[in-house]
Amino acid sequence: MDYKAEIKKLAKERDAVILAHNYQIDDIQEIADIVGDSLGLSIEASKTNNKVIVFCGVHFMAETAHMLAPEKTVLLPNLDAGCPMADMITGAKLREFKAQHPGATTICYVNSTAEVKAESDLCCTSGNAVNVIKSVDTDKIIFVPDKNLGHYVSRFTDKEIILYPGFCPIHNRLTPKQIEKMKAKYPDAEFVAHPECPPAVVDMADHICSTSGLYSYCKQSSAKQFIIGTEVGVGYRLRKENPDKEFLFAYDSFICKNMKKTTLKNVYDCLLNMSNEITVDAEVSRKAVTCIERMLAIPR
Ligand code: 13P
Ligand code: SF4
Repeated sequence: MDYKAEIKKLAKERDAVILAHNYQIDDIQEIADIVGDSLGLSIEASKTNNKVIVFCGVHFMAETAHMLAPEKTVLLPNLDAGCPMADMITGAKLREFKAQHPGATTICYVNSTAEVKAESDLCCTSGNAVNVIKSVDTDKIIFVPDKNLGHYVSRFTDKEIILYPGFCPIHNRLTPKQIEKMKAKYPDAEFVAHPECPPAVVDMADHICSTSGLYSYCKQSSAKQFIIGTEVGVGYRLRKENPDKEFLFAYDSFICKNMKKTTLKNVYDCLLNMSNEITVDAEVSRKAVTCIERMLAIPR
């Protein structure tokens, strides 16, 4: 079957928009209506006119889309696609953590469950985390779950940032030694890293940005070679938009296997059967959506 053609046809019949994260496999990025980072896709979900949102990404992204557009049907083509970092903290664990640090504003990275968002004052993504931190007026901030992104934003404020020990297993694996080796091999290359990388790796980067920030940076840079400190999925668009530049990934298996679970067949099946709908408990959603909407009101 020509899945790509069939998906296009079905999407039209169902009045569906297909959103895909930058880490999705090339075929999914090719059929998607919009490809973007977590912030960009949240914004798209909040303003789409389509009745159905097919979210090719991981579970928390589909949950966020549902909370921003509760009147739409949000489908996650592969229900096994989760985010191990989001699962490192629960609502109950966050309540305990907050009790240990009274008086602090709680900021959660968008890579978190709806339950955790419901316990937070503000949300952020890697694309707006610094601006979100700067918008807070308390002296103490609890940042969950990513200790690396939290550490990165702490460089831009004098406020006390209380870190939770969560991390992305894929980005956290990158070491300064691996970067030293790559830099020795490709001395003219620029190193661009995602803020989910450990602080010692971030220190070595020429530029730190979200997945979408990476596209604009590499396009405008005069460098011809780049060492990329994030998931290999971004290679699809980087190579398409910059045929004269070379993109080398910081380590060989820089792959989020959850982001790679979604196949064309999954997208086709969920559209055909209108299956894999993601919903959030109304009470949790009512609390969680406030912190997402507060975030969306802050300029990127
Ligand atoms: P972005 O917000 O940069 O798209 O990152 C999401 C993510 O899961 C990174 O690992
Ligand atoms: Fe989660 Fe890391 Fe995969 Fe992003 S790359 S979805 S943070 S496990």
